[in-house]
Amino acid sequence: MSNENLSFTDAVKRRRTFAIISHPDAGKTTLTEKFLLYGGAIRSAGSVKSRRSNKHAVSDWMEIEKQRGISVTSSVLQFNYDDFCINILDTPGHQDFSEDTYRTLMAADSAVMVIDSSKGVEDQTKKLFKVCKMRGIPIFTFINKMDRQGRDPFELIEDIEKVLGIRSYPMSWPIGEGKNFKGVYNRIQKQIELFSDGNHGQSIAKNIKGDITDEKFKELLGADLHSQLLNDIELLDMAGDDFNIEDILSGELTPVFFGSALTNFGVEPFLKSFLAITTPPKPRDSNLGLVDPTSTNFSGFIFKIQANMNPAHRDRIAFLRICSGKFEKGMTVNHVQKNKKVKLAQPQQFLAQDRVIVEDAYPGDIIGIHDPGIFNIGDTLCEDNSGLQYKDIPQFAPEHFAKVSTPNSLKRKQFLKGVEQLAEEGTIQVYRRPNIGTNELIIGVVGILQFDVLEYRIKHEYGVEISINQLPHRYIRWVDMEKFDPNTFSITMDTMIVESEDNKPVLLFQNEWSIRTVEERNKNAVLRETSF
Ligand code: G4P
Repeated sequence: MSNENLSFTDAVKRRRTFAIISHPDAGKTTLTEKFLLYGGAIRSAGSVKSRRSNKHAVSDWMEIEKQRGISVTSSVLQFNYDDFCINILDTPGHQDFSEDTYRTLMAADSAVMVIDSSKGVEDQTKKLFKVCKMRGIPIFTFINKMDRQGRDPFELIEDIEKVLGIRSYPMSWPIGEGKNFKGVYNRIQKQIELFSDGNHGQSIAKNIKGDITDEKFKELLGADLHSQLLNDIELLDMAGDDFNIEDILSGELTPVFFGSALTNFGVEPFLKSFLAITTPPKPRDSNLGLVDPTSTNFSGFIFKIQANMNPAHRDRIAFLRICSGKFEKGMTVNHVQKNKKVKLAQPQQFLAQDRVIVEDAYPGDIIGIHDPGIFNIGDTLCEDNSGLQYKDIPQFAPEHFAKVSTPNSLKRKQFLKGVEQLAEEGTIQVYRRPNIGTNELIIGVVGILQFDVLEYRIKHEYGVEISINQLPHRYIRWVDMEKFDPNTFSITMDTMIVESEDNKPVLLFQNEWSIRTVEERNKNAVLRETSF
């Protein structure tokens, strides 16, 4: 369905904007591809695979950027399924795991968490989950790779609850596993859905659906599997949490689904339930209160800035999440933070695997706008003159730190300019050591690859060689207290006190023990994991 014949409100209502989160290799790319397959955006699965090439260990950043040609366009995808218009936000993993990955979650209305059935909850999933939880968005769990021998489904559910601290409600339950994975039981509809064919996952799987009491399923599954299923369901009904839509929508309860993205088994039932439960874009908080997406005043915020892949051009693409009103190509809007008018001339949208110029777009959609260097992460664009500003996007915790300087003091100005640009794009975070008269900066990054990006870009775009000396610190905490005095604040030997660009005290730790000790010793301070 196109937007042409729909009213503005109906066009908003059909939008669903979500991020897919997972640890690398859990099957995020495969699942995304299968969504596109079921949405009819691609004819046969296998075409998005080239994205995976950026998984290989390539230390040369430029190589990664070249390969990223495809992943840039795929970092936001739009496609239609049934009556829905779906925007998927990819959260890059592997070496390009960066602060962008976290910030992308600020633009999503819900999240799909993909878990490998043989591994359970993994490290990167935990980090991304935390940000989703902080935002209170609904989180849907897809336990993938059921076609392989994995962990016991009850154990996996327990793992999610224990490790992530979220209650869960299995919406579907697997029937068989490994080579014997036949389908899923839908607990809401009380129906069995068995799958077959799918041409090794390249095309849509065939299915047979029916009531669990139907005798034919006993025959199809065999008496053992059938009675095991009945036992499992009884156990779930007795021991598990109740289905509660409010708890799901507030992110307190995660609906859990089982399936195999590779063979397509369970993909469509998941997509259907997910779309039925999630809501269209909701009102968003701003300095003027909640902004209704159906208000006619066009507004949105920038959550990601992508540098141009051509180093000769410093222009960039800013990714804007539309929050209200209709966007029309060529419209002039207010850049609220800079108090300037901006014409949005060549807006791009990302449809399946192509990048196209958009004529119009709606709340929930993401558009890429040309940035000649005027936008910062968190900036609001808005049509009217109300001064509307969406809440700032916090800085998320880097995990790698280094002392960075240039040996060439004559080039210090260019060095600082380059660092500033990369900080604005959100590639790096910059800190200074108070009272230490060196020219050194402390740079923090979420993914280690960002140091390569820093070195490469400062050299190629600003002509400055830099030296990077990594520090042993792994954790950051922003200090929240009435009056911070470095002379009386008690830290451990291996803790470093630094200052953020807005002169706020920040601590760098080497281990979690030190964090706990410093918290113990300074009861009047709150140590935060994000900048606010
Ligand atoms: P990611 O984006 O989360 O990193 O994961 P991706 O989809 O790239 O999948 C990682 C690997 O897991 C791939 O195998 C993929 O084929 C496989 N995979 C994904 N979903 C399933 C599933 O449901 N069942 C099984 N058995 N495997 C699955 P690979 O060997 O790394 O790549 P390829 O050779 O298959 O392309």
